[in-house]
Amino acid sequence: MSRTVLIEPAQLVTLADGPKDRPRAGAAQAELGLRAGHSVVIDGERIAWVGPERDRPRTPGATEVDCRGKAVLPALVDSHTHLVWGGDRKDELELRLGGADYEHIFAAGGGILSSVRQTRSIDDDELLAQSRVRLERMRRSGTTSFEIKSGYGLDLETELRQLRVARRLAQETGARVRTTCLAAHALPADLRDSPAGRVEFVRRVCEDILPAVAAAGLADFCDVFCDRGAFTPDETRQILLAARALGVAPRLHANEFGHTGGALLAAELHALSADHLLHLDDAERAALRDAGVVATLLPGTSLVLGKPFADGRALVSAGVAVAVASDCNPGSCALESLALVLALACYGCRLSPAEALCGATHNAACALGLADEVGRIEPGMSADLLILATPDYRDLVYHAGSPLISAVYQRGTQVA
Ligand code: NIG
Ligand code: FE
Repeated sequence: MSRTVLIEPAQLVTLADGPKDRPRAGAAQAELGLRAGHSVVIDGERIAWVGPERDRPRTPGATEVDCRGKAVLPALVDSHTHLVWGGDRKDELELRLGGADYEHIFAAGGGILSSVRQTRSIDDDELLAQSRVRLERMRRSGTTSFEIKSGYGLDLETELRQLRVARRLAQETGARVRTTCLAAHALPADLRDSPAGRVEFVRRVCEDILPAVAAAGLADFCDVFCDRGAFTPDETRQILLAARALGVAPRLHANEFGHTGGALLAAELHALSADHLLHLDDAERAALRDAGVVATLLPGTSLVLGKPFADGRALVSAGVAVAVASDCNPGSCALESLALVLALACYGCRLSPAEALCGATHNAACALGLADEVGRIEPGMSADLLILATPDYRDLVYHAGSPLISAVYQRGTQVA
């Protein structure tokens, strides 16, 4: 078994001090468990030992990595991506920069439906190849654990293909992947113009797509785009309850375009996470907190769409556990660097750098049911780690966008 020792980083960000089995909220969201003068021993895929350098056990034959002057932190966990898609929507990017609105492009049959057409038109190997390029860039930017949603199929065959490709990505790259069936991402083109079409599509999702996906063991979670122009809270409830009956846990896109009921529904269903949350009032924040729902902020999407930023400060003050994720998708935000998105969570959502980092490590891991595996640096955890070229994790925010990542370890192996 290969052994590696990370010797005495200037700053070791362990996240080992706060609660471990649940996401951190309020003041605990900023508890990073910083250590100086400590080293880390990696045995195979796992962290074997963490402690003061002077107490380090002897490790003959181990590869020694001098980390003096550098910060070492858990590799990032991206708890909301739409990473598997075909083609691109750079034409829409230019339209939006020229003044067109995201919701209008979508209503006119572009947007998500454009990506559905492009995804349906390529075969699995091509879909895998296009997606793998993105995953590898995201990994070089510090992420080794990914949630990946379907939702560019909107029919049984293509939804299954997307989820299979997501699982193949995990096998072929060693990245940790959790998959989410987002068949209810938009109404497909042939059903969108009539009330009967809506009813039929919700039926298909509940009775055809979700049972097939669950039977194939292809989804860890079910998500619904619950918002203006997409699915109503009643439709969303129906779909997420059908998923739960199949053993697939709910999470949802909520309150991106208004107070559209998604956040309250997330609380009602005790969803693992409610995501976007640009529009949220005190009662909605209290409901999320009381139900233990993680609020996932996606500030890259606000930047790209020119929308307001979610109020991260108010969420932390209200005691809601916050995660930060990329939302990497072909339309509303194709940003791949979660490290850069951390900076947006600070400058846009007013989180502190510590709160943002907790949101993209331990809290994101909790939102994916991965808190025993990744998101903290402790013996027994998977050796998914980042070595920064600077001595302070806050440089990810302070010098956002600079090439600050010196190495990425995934399951004990250096992958970037
Ligand atoms: O999270 N809001 C819905 N889904 C994605 C956008 C998907 C797309 O535009 O392709 C999001 O922003
Ligand atoms: Fe999304």
